[in-house]
Amino acid sequence: MAPPLGFLSSKYFGLYCLLSIGFTIYLLVVSSPPITFGTLSTADRHPKQHIQYRGPYAIAIFLASKSNERPEDSDNDDGYYVSARTIVYQLLHSPSTKLRNPVPVVILVSQHARESKRQRLRDDGAIVVNVDDVAHNMTITIDRWTDTFTKLRLFDPNVVPYEKVLLMDADIALTHPIDAIFQDSNTDPRETNQTALTEPEREPLPEKYIMAASPESLQRDHSYPFLDPDNLSTRFNSGLLMYSPSTELFQHYLKLLENPDLYYTGGPDQDLLNYAHRWGGPMPWRRLHYSWYLNWPNDNDFKGNMAMLHTKWWDHEFSYSSDSVEKFAFARRWEMEGYWIGKEGYISH
Ligand SMILES: *[C@@H]1O[C@H](CO)[C@@H](O)[C@H](O)[C@H]1NC(C)=O
Ligand SMILES: *[C@@H]1O[C@H](CO)[C@@H](O)[C@H](O)[C@H]1NC(C)=O
Ligand SMILES: *[C@@H]1O[C@H](CO)[C@@H](O)[C@H](O)[C@H]1NC(C)=O
Repeated sequence: MAPPLGFLSSKYFGLYCLLSIGFTIYLLVVSSPPITFGTLSTADRHPKQHIQYRGPYAIAIFLASKSNERPEDSDNDDGYYVSARTIVYQLLHSPSTKLRNPVPVVILVSQHARESKRQRLRDDGAIVVNVDDVAHNMTITIDRWTDTFTKLRLFDPNVVPYEKVLLMDADIALTHPIDAIFQDSNTDPRETNQTALTEPEREPLPEKYIMAASPESLQRDHSYPFLDPDNLSTRFNSGLLMYSPSTELFQHYLKLLENPDLYYTGGPDQDLLNYAHRWGGPMPWRRLHYSWYLNWPNDNDFKGNMAMLHTKWWDHEFSYSSDSVEKFAFARRWEMEGYWIGKEGYISH
């Protein structure tokens, strides 16, 4: 698998150097002894695996291929692709939402996706990485989820070589810059609880892990903030989460794929991740601050200025968000288009 070397020649390389130098100084000054999170290792009974991370932070997005795409369809008929372009614009270019301290935006693209889409995403400023499918034997009933298990490759540090990564679904719109999410208190590495291992987890897990996400509200009609003080919602939504790529973690997920009876209820990667990071298990997930994200965003979340709005603005039936949220995201899509027309005369098709 080719590493995303395009990044090295990108216009963010200078900034990245500055950030890594800054981060290194920060580590030297703040941590005593220096933390060794950059070289996660397996338990002693297994050979050590050292990971060379290319940088401290990144944002990663998985772009599935469009099922039933016909040759005559335009790229713009693929709502996830247009949304991915929109979020890249919002993260890297939009004056109102771009990262104040830019980090690489890595897009994993299924091998089935069109080259024209990959090229445009590169031109938009993203690092595009092509990935092979992840093999599995599960029955996936919803068409648009066909290759969501391929999303698991985001957890492979050979594919996404950064220490702390924000995974975002492509269909998310920003209301303001999100730099501070990398400092959210629940996104720091935690020790894996090796005594909570059960079958089939008797295998090397990372010594430390990050898994911070937001609970499923499962109510379209909820208030903002959705606090869930009694932790009634024990499952998280996998549309937005912070994690640390790790060989052990990736191998662990692949192992879980062979044991779907442990967790599978029809919601592909989300079921698997929720099992791997269940409360009471070895690597329990923790909550992100409520102001970042909640699935099925409604008018309350929008008025409350929640940072990330998950909405399929092109598909009302599956959007599960309120009209105001859909309209907001739809306007961002055209703001993106206008930006590229103004900047380089590029009109999408
Ligand atoms: C680790 O897991 C064990 C077994 O489930 C549990 O009793 C213990 O409280 C856990 N330790 C921590 C620090 O959560
Ligand atoms: C809910 O979970 C959070 C974080 O896991 C914990 O701090 C809090 O005490 C829990 N609340 C209850 C009522 O168990
Ligand atoms: C799928 O099933 C085949 C045949 O039983 C088996 O060889 C393969 O390992 C399975 N793959 C996974 C990921 O479970």
